[in-house]
Formats: sequence, C-alpha cells, structure tokens
Amino acid sequence: MTLQVRVSDGAHETRTADRAFVRELGRRCAMSSVGSLRRASEPTVRAAFDRLCDIVFDQPHAALIAQREERRVGFLLLLDELPDEVTALPQGFVAYMAVEPECRGAGVGAALLAAAEDEARRRGLPYMALMVTEDNAGARRLYERGGYQTERRLLCKPL
Ligand SMILES: CC(C)(COP(=O)(O)OP(=O)(O)OC[C@H]1O[C@@H](n2cnc3c(N)ncnc32)[C@H](O)[C@@H]1OP(=O)(O)O)[C@@H](O)C(=O)NCCC(=O)NCCS
Repeated sequence: MTLQVRVSDGAHETRTADRAFVRELGRRCAMSSVGSLRRASEPTVRAAFDRLCDIVFDQPHAALIAQREERRVGFLLLLDELPDEVTALPQGFVAYMAVEPECRGAGVGAALLAAAEDEARRRGLPYMALMVTEDNAGARRLYERGGYQTERRLLCKPL
C-alpha cells in the first residue's frame, strides 16, 4: 500500500476530520513524552495534549497527514512562526508527531519528518527544531536518523 503525506488544507470536512484524527491519536500517544522524573496522570497528560492542539490550531501552522489509501496513519504538527527564542532566527518547529502503533517501524515517521522539512524549506525556513523526551528512545532514534543534533537541554529536578 502506498504511503502519501499531505498538508491538511483541503475542504472544510477534510480539515475537520484531520483535526479529529490528530487529537484522537495524539491523546492516545501523549504518555510516550512523559519522562520518568515527573509523576503525571494520564488524564492530565491527555488534557495537556488537547491544550497543545488548541494552541497550534489557533496560530499559523501546517498539519501533515500520512495516509495509506484512505486510512490516516500518522500526523506531524509544524509551527512556522515560532522563531528560536535565543537567536530570533526563523525556524520550523515540530509541535508533535505520532504514528498509529500498528504502523510503526515502517518509515511513516521518517516520511512525515521529511515532508515537514520540505514544507518548511518551501516556506523559506532555514532550520527545523523540536523537543524530545530523553526517555522516548523511539522518537530520539527517529530524529537522530533524520540528522537532528542536540542543541540545548531541558533540565528538571523533582523537589
Ligand atoms: C516516534 C514515532 C513517531 C516513530 O514513528 P515510526 O513510523 O515508527 O518511525 P520510522 O519507522 O520512520 O522510523 C525511523 C527511524 O527511527 C527508528 N525508530 C523508530 N521508532 C523506534 C523505536 N521504538 N525503537 C528503535 N528505533 C526506532 C527506526 O528504526 C528508523 O531507523 P532506521 O532507519 O535506522 O531503521 C512513533 O514511534 C510514535 O508515534 N511514537 C509515539 C508518539 C511520540 O513519541 N512522538 C514523538 C514526540 S517527540
């Protein structure tokens, strides 16, 4: 089955269905980004993902949808007006991405990332940035394979 990655910008019904898919899959996957340092309950983390969606959908962004035939199998939310806070240089920022559990390990994540980079280049953005949880080995591997390097670290200490 061929994999297609498209930017969600079609008819109103398609965009609405895309957003529902993003929210539903994202909620199911949100716990993967919780590191071992923080004790967070699943409902809270899912609510935080909903809040992230509200924020992203409310500002300039691109939602990339990976599809096999008619079935949506993954997504990537790309922010394109969030300059780097240290240098003020423009960048694309991956707010979140996820692939359906049974479709992982088959290149969907890598295809979404490559398509997001193409979209960012098309929009004249010279860098792509993202945050990833140290304990999320799968996601870290995906980004490393894609050529991403650690630039800063987010430190946390339980009190
Ligand atoms: C992270 C995620 C998007 C990867 O999607 P995917 O479709 O499985 O990724 P791919 O099949 O394109 O894999 C790309 C590379 O990463 C590696 N990789 C991906 N997941 C991996 C895992 N769990 N363990 C080890 N390597 C992994 C693949 O082996 C591949 O490397 P290779 O080219 O050397 O084989 C998916 O696991 C997911 O949705 N996780 C839950 C949500 C999440 O953590 N999102 C990221 C938030 S920052």
